This record gives sequence, structure tokens and C-alpha cells, in this order.
Amino acid sequence: MTELPASAPGGHAGPARAIVVLTAAVAALGGLLFGYDTSVISGAMLFLRTDFHLSDRQLEFAVGIALAGALAGSSLAGYCTDRWGRRTMLLATGVGFGLFSILSGLAAGLASFSVARFFVGVCIGVASLVTPLYLAETSPARIRGALVSLNQLAITVGILAAYFVDYALAADRDWRSMFMTAVIPSVVLVLGMILLPESPRWLARKGFRAHALRGFQRLGRGAEAETELREVEQALEEEQEGFRVLFQSGFRLAVLVGVGLAIFQQITGINTIVYYSPVILRMSGYPSAKAAILAAAVIGAANVLVTILSIFMVDRLGRRFLLLFGTAGMGLALAMIGIAFERRSAGTVIFYEMIAYIVSFGIGLGPVMWLLISEIYPTKIRGKAMSLATVSVWGSNWLVAGTFLSLIRSAGPAGTFWIFSVICLLAFGFCWAYVPETKGKTLEMIERHWSQLGQAGTP
Ligand code: BGC
Repeated sequence: MTELPASAPGGHAGPARAIVVLTAAVAALGGLLFGYDTSVISGAMLFLRTDFHLSDRQLEFAVGIALAGALAGSSLAGYCTDRWGRRTMLLATGVGFGLFSILSGLAAGLASFSVARFFVGVCIGVASLVTPLYLAETSPARIRGALVSLNQLAITVGILAAYFVDYALAADRDWRSMFMTAVIPSVVLVLGMILLPESPRWLARKGFRAHALRGFQRLGRGAEAETELREVEQALEEEQEGFRVLFQSGFRLAVLVGVGLAIFQQITGINTIVYYSPVILRMSGYPSAKAAILAAAVIGAANVLVTILSIFMVDRLGRRFLLLFGTAGMGLALAMIGIAFERRSAGTVIFYEMIAYIVSFGIGLGPVMWLLISEIYPTKIRGKAMSLATVSVWGSNWLVAGTFLSLIRSAGPAGTFWIFSVICLLAFGFCWAYVPETKGKTLEMIERHWSQLGQAGTP
């Protein structure tokens, strides 16, 4: 691990902090839609199968198509947001979520449903990149960890909301309304983003100095606005444009950290729990599907609660501590799940171990991965570099979600969870060796750290 320079000065008082938090809360609706739209399909799929007369393969396709869209969306989002701005992209995403959620609900058959869900997926991919990016660029350094992590909180709330909406509408087999409910947060996101300012860092990069200054002032910086802008401008002067920068020494390491964290966040198995917990609980001997679904909702609620805890800790204890603590806990919990399957322990034992796993994820790798990938890159290439990391998230998500059931069939449940447990051990080692502490530093201080590493000849 390498040391960063001392913390940024200045705190933020009452009303200023309220404006910043409000801005973050609106932007975080992008995260809520990401969570809701990735999960809503789980409750809708049974009805889709019968209404559209789908075979197993067609159903798998209908479920997975949004992840393909997210992969496409995240690969384009970096370029688009560097070019047209963070706010514009969040606005466009809000409109897209609203439109394609309605079209998913109105679909007449598999083809029209898949097209609509693909574009919902594109919006998920774009939101997954632009939301934390906008939050990081508008937040004051001292509380940036908490504000960017509102994104992860919103994701978990979205997942939980999808559980409840699915549960409430299942009695009427109303899968169409399950998808269309997403219109409500989409409209709030659009209206909110119309009122919020563009990221001052992006404006400065495009040379709109007066707008950038006004942006910082609207974000409650007061007298500090000019100083903050000058620091941004100075860093921009030293920055170079283009994808090549990502592969210069120093920044290469930043890219490795971002992509590594993104892949580890997924291949340590989070979405086997988020997408398949009822299936896992049934395998562990849970008596009914209903009991398993209810237990899954409790796991979802634990995810929300622990994310709140993480938000309070991330700017105090730092990113590294939460990451190391979290990955160690995840590894331990997964090893215990494997043992419980091996010994054929009661389903409730596995349920508690799944809670221990989600709590460890929600403290560390869940929020901190999104936070770090939004803060470790220079402004001029932040969008493109984040694209690399988010594409890695969605690619590995697709891989794990798409192979989990086959893995269970070939390695058995115990073997499968032990494999994930070993991967957690690797994730721990990776975080220990490569992830720097960014708590309390301005984005420009973090950037200087990588350039200095480059000058010192670090790979
Ligand atoms: C991950 C998602 C996951 C969610 C669960 C996010 O940080 O990127 O893949 O479903 O957390 O809370």
C-alpha cells in the first residue's frame, strides 16, 4: 500500500451540507433504478413463462438480456459522459428508464419484451457509471465516501423494493405493473436532474469557468468555491487527454485497482445470493418456496441496513479498513456455508451464514468498490476509465449469474461456496497489496499520488 498526501482542509456547515446531501439523494435515484430493474425480473419470470409460453432457454434469454444491455450501456457511457456531461447523461437515463419500463410492461411477446429490457439494461449500465461519477465530482472531500455510497444504499433499496412490489403484485399475476412501477423513480430523477447543476469538474474541463464556479457555489461551497476550482484547473492543466493515459505508469496501477475491484466484487459471488437466495435456501432444506422468498427479503433488508452503517464509517475508518474487514468476513461466511452444506446442517444455519455474508459485503466491497472507481482517476479520463471498470462489473456479473446453477451441478453446493471463499481470500490479498487509502483527500490529491508513483517508476 502507498501513502497519499495529508487530508483536504475545510468542513461544511449546516445549509451547505443539506444542499450537497439533497443533490446526492436525487442523483442516487440512478442507483435505485439500477437495483430495482436488475431484481424485478425475479418475481416476474414465472408469469412471463406462462403468458409468453417460453421454453427454459427462452426464459433464460429473457432474464439475461438486461445484463447484456448493461454491458453495452457501461461500455458507451464513459465516452458519452465525457463528451456530453454527467447531468445530461443522468437526464437521458431517467427518460430511458421511464420509457423502456413502460414498453417492457406493454410487451406483446418475447421479441418486443427483449428489446425493451435490453434498453432498460443499457440505462442500468449507464446509471451504474454516471451516478457514482456525478456524486464523486460534486461532493466535498470530507464526506465524499458517504455521499457516493448513497448510490450503493439506493441500489440495495431498489432491490428490496423490487422484492416487495413483486410480492404484492404476484397474487394478481400482474407482471406488467412490476416493470411499469419503475416509472415513478424515473420521473423523480428527471425532474430532480433538471434542477441540479452539472458537475463543476466537468464544466471546468470543458473550459466553462464561470459556470463551473457557479456550480461549486450552488453546491454550497461559498467562499471555498474559488479555491476548489483553482485546484481543479491546476490538475487539469497537468492532465493529458485520451485513452493512452490509462496505460502510462502510475495510472496503469489505478486502472488495475479499479478493474480488479470490479471483478472481485462480482466473482466473490454477491449475485448468487442476491438473485438466487430462494433457490439456495430451498436446496438447504427450507420447507416451502414462500418461506424461502420471505427469508430472501430479510437478507435484502440486512443489505440495506448494513449499507447505512458503512456510510457512517467510510469517511471515518477509511476505505481500506472496510474492504479488508468486509472481504475477510465474506470469505469466512462462504466457507461456513460450504461446511453447512457438507454436513447437511439445518436451513436456518445457512440462512444466518448468508446474512453474515451480505453484512460483510454491504460493509466493504459493495459500496467501496463503486466509491473507489469514481475517485481514483484523473478528471479528463475519469469517464473512460470508469467504463473499463463498469464493463468488468457487468461482464463478470453475467458470467457468475449465468454459470452458478451449472457450477452447483458440477461442484456441488459445498464445493461451489468453497470456490467463492477462496476467491475472497485472493480479493483480500489484492486489496491489501494495491488499494490506497483515499479518505479525506480531494480528487486532485489522489490524482497527484498516481502521477508521483509514475515518476518514481512504479508500474
Ligand atoms: C453490485 C450488484 C449487487 C448489489 C447488491 C452492487 O454493488 O454491483 O451486482 O447486486 O451491489 O447490493
